[in-house]
Amino acid sequence: MPSYDENGNNPKSLIERGEELYNNRSLSTNGLSCASCHGTDGQSGYQATFNQPFPHPVAMGANMFGMETVHADEMVQLCMVAPMAAEPLDWESEDLAALAAYVVNAQQRLAGEADGQ
Ligand code: HEC
Repeated sequence: MPSYDENGNNPKSLIERGEELYNNRSLSTNGLSCASCHGTDGQSGYQATFNQPFPHPVAMGANMFGMETVHADEMVQLCMVAPMAAEPLDWESEDLAALAAYVVNAQQRLAGEADGQ
């Protein structure tokens, strides 16, 4: 079971922890942070698919990993392994939950559904 809420009801502290990690270059082996590609506000630099609530189809998931749809935590792991050239995070980890919570929050801000966080 993921320890974040894909509907966006996540504690502010978890989202803030995710934002820190999102900007942290030491998560990758190639000097990139998530924000290097996706923007420091966490909601720019995405394809149009990011507008949809998770789970949803993402071209990278289909093309590289054969996944029809991806959950937010799965998408974090795909980007950890492929563009970040790193090991996946522990599935039960706080770091993965925090990044997934932040990604869901960014998705909802992009779609105009944020609840003020
Ligand atoms: C080198 C650039 C790069 C880095 C670094 C990177 N990504 Fe990605 N990310 C991509 C690409 C490319 C896609 C796939 C877009 C597609 O297939 O439509 C993607 C897709 C995504 C999506 C899905 C967008 C959607 O359509 O829903 C999310 C969420 C995401 N990345 C989060 C992250 C997170 C979190 C990190 C850091 C752990 C990260 N990315 C690091 C390039 C990057």
